Amino acid sequence: MPEHETAAASKNVRILAVESSCDETACAVVENGRRILANAVYSQIDLHAAYGGVVPEIASRAHIEKIDVLTAHALAQAGLALAEVDAIAVTCGPGLVGALLVGVAYAKGLALALNKPLIAVNHIEGHIYANVLTYPHLAPPFVCLVVSGGHSHLLAVDERYQYILLGCTQDDAAGEAMDKAARVLGLGYPGGPKLDALAQQGDERAYSLPKPKIEGPLDFSFSGLKTAFINLVHTLQQRGETVKQADLAACFRRAVVDQLLSGAMRALQVTGLTKLVLAGGVAANSLLRQEAQKACAARGIDLYLPEIALCGDNAAMIAAAAYPKYLRGDFAQLDLNAYPSLRIV
Ligand code: KG4
Ligand code: ZN
Repeated sequence: MPEHETAAASKNVRILAVESSCDETACAVVENGRRILANAVYSQIDLHAAYGGVVPEIASRAHIEKIDVLTAHALAQAGLALAEVDAIAVTCGPGLVGALLVGVAYAKGLALALNKPLIAVNHIEGHIYANVLTYPHLAPPFVCLVVSGGHSHLLAVDERYQYILLGCTQDDAAGEAMDKAARVLGLGYPGGPKLDALAQQGDERAYSLPKPKIEGPLDFSFSGLKTAFINLVHTLQQRGETVKQADLAACFRRAVVDQLLSGAMRALQVTGLTKLVLAGGVAANSLLRQEAQKACAARGIDLYLPEIALCGDNAAMIAAAAYPKYLRGDFAQLDLNAYPSLRIV
């Protein structure tokens, strides 16, 4: 057994992680990849709301202002001194380059000053590991539907946590499409959760929206749906008809969820796997969670939904994803950079 694995087996491993890929500054301490000792998140929503979306420069500046305070807060919550953590983990991509660089530079500084290992984590892998925090005994293989503001992927995750790409969006991500639809309805930023809330009171059969024509059987496409939705809203406005916002939100949400779940069900069928794991900010969508439960129950599939608080960006998921890398001795060097387009496969 390698030295670090022997050490890991004999003592509790506490990983301090920082996450700054988009508009949340986050710092967490997680023990043995499972037990959250602290999970501090500062959401920049108020700073970006006036602009209707994330302004990269504002995001980077806010990360710089908050990251140290959040780290101190997380350590206090965990009851640990900085010197007591075993490794420093950081999201190195994908995301906004300026925002990522803040976390990467900060984590490198900590690792150098403390002489602790540095662990680089892919943000998407972090989202998947949010499930390991929610279900400590979750065991691969499984199909994972990753749905966030920037990604919509179907992955097969094998016994060694190797990822096989089954399909992905050919254009917009599901969260991005939800955010755009919400914006057209004047719901503001961040749109996804607002659209979800408004849709609860709407009639999802009030309007008909097109189904996309997709080439790959396990791929997604949301751009045509988004355009059809924008055209529908504008047509209603031009005709002077009442724009029934809740009905529109309900129809759009239904179209996105149906597409995501039919892809996920096909992926389970093709792979023969019997577990479905949801990950990413859109995994908080109430209809997606409810319909995934129904679809999986009908097919005898085990469904894993991350705790709502862990669906959005946070650093606990980054620390959880870093733990197996710690055990393997998979450490980053101090020349680690930020990789805005980093892929998972
Ligand atoms: O994973 P995440 O926090 O950040 C990225 O890595 O992109 O995902 C953010 C996305 C946004 O598009 C947001 O609108 C969407 O997740 N989202 C939701 C809900 N909560 C967050 N979309 C639909 N329904 C929700 N309840
Ligand atoms: Zn994310």
